[in-house]
Amino acid sequence: MADTTSPLETTESTENLTDEGQRCKGRKANAPMSLSSPPSQTGKGAFVREMFAEIAPRYDAANRVMTAGLDEGWRRRAIALLAPPRGGSVIDLCCGTGDLSFHLVRKDPTLHVTGVDFCEPMLAGARTRAQREARGRGVTFIEGDVMALAFPDASFDGATMGFSLRNVVDIDATLREIRRVLRPGSRFVNLDVSKAPNLLFKRLFDLYFYHLVPLLGGLIGGSRAAYTYLPHSLTNHPNARDLQTRFERAGFANCGYKPLMGGAIAIHYGTVAERL
Ligand SMILES: C[S@@+](CC[C@H](N)C(=O)[O-])C[C@H]1O[C@@H](n2cnc3c(N)ncnc32)[C@H](O)[C@@H]1O
Repeated sequence: MADTTSPLETTESTENLTDEGQRCKGRKANAPMSLSSPPSQTGKGAFVREMFAEIAPRYDAANRVMTAGLDEGWRRRAIALLAPPRGGSVIDLCCGTGDLSFHLVRKDPTLHVTGVDFCEPMLAGARTRAQREARGRGVTFIEGDVMALAFPDASFDGATMGFSLRNVVDIDATLREIRRVLRPGSRFVNLDVSKAPNLLFKRLFDLYFYHLVPLLGGLIGGSRAAYTYLPHSLTNHPNARDLQTRFERAGFANCGYKPLMGGAIAIHYGTVAERL
């Protein structure tokens, strides 16, 4: 089915950035999470951070079960599109517990990977995993907001993001910030759920995503409310073609996307143009 949601209907706005002052340090959300409907943009950043703090301890297990392990293959496909130079530095944005970061250094142990996330409990998971999975390879995890990265212009040879762009307060500002920290000629690769164009596939996926995921989220993920919000974060997200347009509008060149699972998953990419 053709997706009728225009990217212009999304309501990302920079005016809510002042909500971002509070940091989560592993405490449970103190406000009850009434997430059956998505939050308003007001307070979205703090809300998202609290939500991930709550589900962080069981995030990896829930992910594997909910995707039946398929996410591992999608992650490998995404990383294959990045092609950073050997020994290069890559930023993994919204790294969570570090899944893409570890995939990157497993594929090329010469890389220096910096994972950035604003939720400390997710980063704690990443650091614990690093002891087993990075084994001295160059992976560092730091706390930060991907909408305001603490790096100079042109710092990295590649950037990845997994299952997160739906959660940022302002997609366009985030894309511009990612482009800013990338060196000319380097790529940004974004792996995320998307809107399946095929009606039958869309119906099946919606059944899974909006009904089974919240159920499993309650049983395995530790919060049915959080896993009810997460699928809803797709509702106002641009469809795959519109997201490509947003990449282009942010200044990326040679943009495109690879649909997986009938388009229910998409890997978007764009390159920072070489300076003439
Ligand atoms: C669904 S998880 C994805 C984690 C990981 N990338 C993966 O592929 O499994 C989304 C992550 O995005 C982080 N996040 C959302 N908005 C963020 C922002 N503005 N800055 C930094 N991290 C953010 C959350 O804290 C959470 O860890």
